[in-house]
Amino acid sequence: MAAPRQRLCLGIETSCDETAAAVVTSGGAVRSSIVASQANLHAQYGGVVPELAARQHVQAVLPTVDRALAAAGVTWSDLDLIAVTRGPGLPAALLVGVAAAKAVAFAAGLPLVGVNHLAGHVYAHALEAEPQAGSPDRLPRPAVALVVSGSHTDLCHLPAEGGLQLLGTTVDDAAGEAFDKVARLLGLGYPGGPALDRLAQTGDPGAVPLPRALGPLTGPRRRDPRLVGGPYAFSFSGLKTAVAVRLEAAPDTPPADLAASFQAAAVEVLVAKTLAAAAHLRVRTVLVAGGVAANSALRSAMTAACIQSGLTVCFPPLCYCTDNAAMIAVAGWMAHARGQVDGWDLDADPNLPLELP
Ligand code: KG4
Ligand code: ZN
Repeated sequence: MAAPRQRLCLGIETSCDETAAAVVTSGGAVRSSIVASQANLHAQYGGVVPELAARQHVQAVLPTVDRALAAAGVTWSDLDLIAVTRGPGLPAALLVGVAAAKAVAFAAGLPLVGVNHLAGHVYAHALEAEPQAGSPDRLPRPAVALVVSGSHTDLCHLPAEGGLQLLGTTVDDAAGEAFDKVARLLGLGYPGGPALDRLAQTGDPGAVPLPRALGPLTGPRRRDPRLVGGPYAFSFSGLKTAVAVRLEAAPDTPPADLAASFQAAAVEVLVAKTLAAAAHLRVRTVLVAGGVAANSALRSAMTAACIQSGLTVCFPPLCYCTDNAAMIAVAGWMAHARGQVDGWDLDADPNLPLELP
C-alpha cells in the first residue's frame, strides 16, 4: 500500500533583514529552506535600515518563494497550508510577508495561518526531530526555553501539558543587540554577533574584568536595582557600557581579548539564569533558540553546565537558529493543528509577545 501523502506547508518570513521561504511537512521534515539575506545591503549603514529592508523584501519575496518550491520539487497544487510571520518585527517588513502570503493563499485556494516569530524560534526544535511521546506540540517538555535573538531575550517555562509561561525578559538591550553593539564598538561591522564570535575565539576571556548582571538568582524580587523584574530578568546595557568605557580608557586593549571577555560575561549570565530556572522548576531539559543560539561560546558553556547538572540541552542546527522560514512553517503546522485559520484581515503585529499556539 502506498504511504499516505505528506502534507506540505509553505512558510514565509520577512520580519527583519532576511527574506525566507521554506517547504516543511506536517511531521516537521524540511523539504527546502531558502534564506535571501540582506546583510550586504545593510552592512554599509552598520545596522538594519527598516525602509530599505521592506523595499528589498518586496523585490525578493516572490522569487524566494519560487526558489523554495523548486528546491522542494513541488508546485502550488502540492501545498496544503501557507504560514507567515505576523510579528514581532519591523512593521513595514512584516507587512510585505503578510501581504504576499495572503495573495498566494488566495490565488492557490489554501488556508493561511499567521505565526509568532518567537514561537517559530522555539519550534525550530520540532524540525527534523523525532515526535516527543506525550508532548502536545513535538517539543521536549517539560523544559526551560531560552530565546535569544536580536530583539528578544526571553526565558520561559514550557510545562508538560502545553503552553508557555514567561519567566523573565531583558530590561534593556536584547542579547543579540548587545553582541551587535559591542561588535560595532570594536569596528567589526554588521552583522556583528557572528563576527564577534569569530574574533573572540582568538582572545582571552579572562583578560578584561567586566560586570555580570546576575542579581539574586532566587529569593525575593527587586533586591538588585539593576534587575527590576525578578531573578530571571536580564540586563546587558551595563556590560556594553563597561566595554565602551574600557575602550576609551585603554584603547590599545587587544580587540580579541575584549570580544572574548564581553562574550564570556554575556554567556555566563545567560547560562546561570537558565540553569537556575531549570533547578527552581525541577525540569531536566533546556532548549535554546534564536540567532544568539548560534554563538559558539553559548553552545559550549550551556552544554557543559547542563551536563554537569544532569540536564539535557537542545540547540537547533545552526541554519535554524538565525531567521529562516522552516521554523515558521513548522510553527504554522502547530497553529493549524489547534484549529487556527486566519482570514484575509490577518494583520502584522510588530509588538507581538512570545506565546505558543
Ligand atoms: O533570530 P535572529 O536571526 O533575528 C532576530 O529575530 O532578531 O537573531 C539575530 C541576532 C543578531 O543580533 C545577531 O548578531 C545574533 O543573532 N547572532 C549571533 C551569532 N549569530 C547571530 N550572536 C552571537 N554569536 C553568533 N554566532
Ligand atoms: Zn528571529
